[in-house]
Amino acid sequence: MVLTSLRRLIPLFVTIVCLGCTQVNPATTDSLYSYKQPSSDGIGKVYMGREISQVMGHRGASWLERPGRKADEQPDVAVDALELKPTDTVADIGAGTGYMSFRMAQKVPDGQVLAVDLQPEMIQMLEAVRDEQGITNVQTIQAEEDNPHLPSEQVDLALMVDAYHEFAFPREVMTGVVDGLKPGGRLVLAEYRAENPMVMIKRLHKMSEKQVKKEMAAVGLTWLKTDDRLPQQHLLFFEKAA
Ligand SMILES: C[S@@+](CC[C@H](N)C(=O)[O-])C[C@H]1O[C@@H](n2cnc3c(N)ncnc32)[C@H](O)[C@@H]1O
Repeated sequence: MVLTSLRRLIPLFVTIVCLGCTQVNPATTDSLYSYKQPSSDGIGKVYMGREISQVMGHRGASWLERPGRKADEQPDVAVDALELKPTDTVADIGAGTGYMSFRMAQKVPDGQVLAVDLQPEMIQMLEAVRDEQGITNVQTIQAEEDNPHLPSEQVDLALMVDAYHEFAFPREVMTGVVDGLKPGGRLVLAEYRAENPMVMIKRLHKMSEKQVKKEMAAVGLTWLKTDDRLPQQHLLFFEKAA
């Protein structure tokens, strides 16, 4: 009896504790998720054996644009690995300030980049840079935490750099991403390597190759390859059935 009452209270407890980091909507929470005492960098919500991390708040946006990032992460090497075509429609899910969106925009002069983010402040920062630089092929999309609001079957490639692990509703977001991909479209995740203790990133902000593959298989995506040319991150490629 006491245990049953406690179990019922856990989602409420998690919701209250996490109000400062990300909003968990209990109305759409179902048996996909379970709850625990939050870790220092987590929200206490568990999906397929993985605790979801806290969202990196917009006040930390300067971290995304830090001068050393180019040398540390080699973002241009990551974009080359995507092998984009000039006409591609590309989605950057969890785009933040647009660090990857603007790099991809240069590769798709006859296509477009859909820069999707949950935080309006990130969208505003991205739009300010876009407009100042006169970039015309980057369009922003305001996401909800359980919906990326992509147009259906329009996207050739969706990229998520250092973002997926913090989605509070990973199954729902991925269902939306898969719907947004064209048949045969590709999804690429860049996640810091959890297998490597020398990658000095908080535990829940790293993901193993095995875990990513498991979670993408759950939404029907087929693994194509893992490209480990980046110094700290896996680049995992998946495909939607043609
Ligand atoms: C660590 S930042 C990475 C930003 C960018 N990809 C980069 O590499 O510079 C993660 C971003 O994911 C966004 N995010 C978190 N949950 C999201 C969701 N459910 N849908 C869309 N964006 C989300 C956050 O607002 C944040 O801007």
